[in-house]
Amino acid sequence: MLVLGIETSCDETAAALVADGTILSNVIASQIDLHARFGGIVPEVASRKHVEAIGYVIQEAFDSAGKTHTEVDAVAVTSKYGLVGSLIVGVSAAKAMAYALKVPLIGIHHIEGHIFANILSNPGTPLPHVCLTVSGGHTMLVHVKELCQYEVMGNTLDDAAGEAFDKISKFLGLGFPGGPAIESLATQGNRAAFNLPRPLGRSRSFDFSFSGLKTSVVNMFKGRDRETLPLPDIAASFQQAVVDVLVSKTLQAALHKGVSAVSITGGVSINSRLREDFSAACGRQGLQVFFPRRDLCTDNAAMVAAAGAARLKYGEMSQLDLNAIPNAPLESIGCAGKHC
Ligand code: KG4
Ligand code: ZN
Repeated sequence: MLVLGIETSCDETAAALVADGTILSNVIASQIDLHARFGGIVPEVASRKHVEAIGYVIQEAFDSAGKTHTEVDAVAVTSKYGLVGSLIVGVSAAKAMAYALKVPLIGIHHIEGHIFANILSNPGTPLPHVCLTVSGGHTMLVHVKELCQYEVMGNTLDDAAGEAFDKISKFLGLGFPGGPAIESLATQGNRAAFNLPRPLGRSRSFDFSFSGLKTSVVNMFKGRDRETLPLPDIAASFQQAVVDVLVSKTLQAALHKGVSAVSITGGVSINSRLREDFSAACGRQGLQVFFPRRDLCTDNAAMVAAAGAARLKYGEMSQLDLNAIPNAPLESIGCAGKHC
């Protein structure tokens, strides 16, 4: 089955063609340079840019896959979770394509897309498993019981982990997005240089909180001349604090559910320190750990097409009144599978 995926939930305009688990094209028009000067995503600017780019991005997905419109069997689109003005652009384009081509339309929750970024990369990921989605907009622990059946175990109570990277980067004058800038500087720093808090590290809940960690860094160094700041040491210590919390909560969650595997997805899962520490900690606990291909960690449409294909297989489809829902909880999407 050839599925056209469309993703516009934040600042990436993306379209992809996926055929039975094989990615034929994965086109992403990033707006990062545009938002960098504001130090973060400006929602109205994002939606206007999606309107400009969406037609070209979809066409490029067909051209680079060497496929024609009439070969498509279904259209999957991120319709839940994200910036509403951005979501609307993708949903409208997907409806137009599905209507014109007379093929099924399927709306996908953005977090389900991230869960499928890993499944697409590692089809052998065992079920059930625990998935951590960690990006600029989310830090969410999900018990993936079956494909399409989820229980949210924990969420961030304030900033997402990627957002904390972005804010600290801005504070240190390192630019946007912050994750790559901090990771690169941290390679030259000492991760034990500063004793930073590990928020909710000892709590029994699976929720996260990163705003206190961010405030600790700011309070420690505010008012100081930037030239005098030990930037690599701050970057390394901050990165380590975030990674420690992510690793310990995810392992706690895996232990609690008795699963044999975890997957880590989303933009922050590109981070090498995070990958190394997860691999080491999971190895000690006898857990398998899976990460998506690097180009599927950040927002993309191949993951949406893959999630769409799984739901369509269970006979689920959306109608042409499909709407954009910015805050839909993951559990609200229900389970499409007959087995559940
Ligand atoms: O998944 P994504 O593209 O968008 C959201 O859904 O939010 O993730 C973007 C986030 C940004 O906050 C960015 O700073 C972070 O992922 N990120 C990283 C790295 N690369 C991107 N964080 C830590 N280390 C990285 N190498
Ligand atoms: Zn995302």
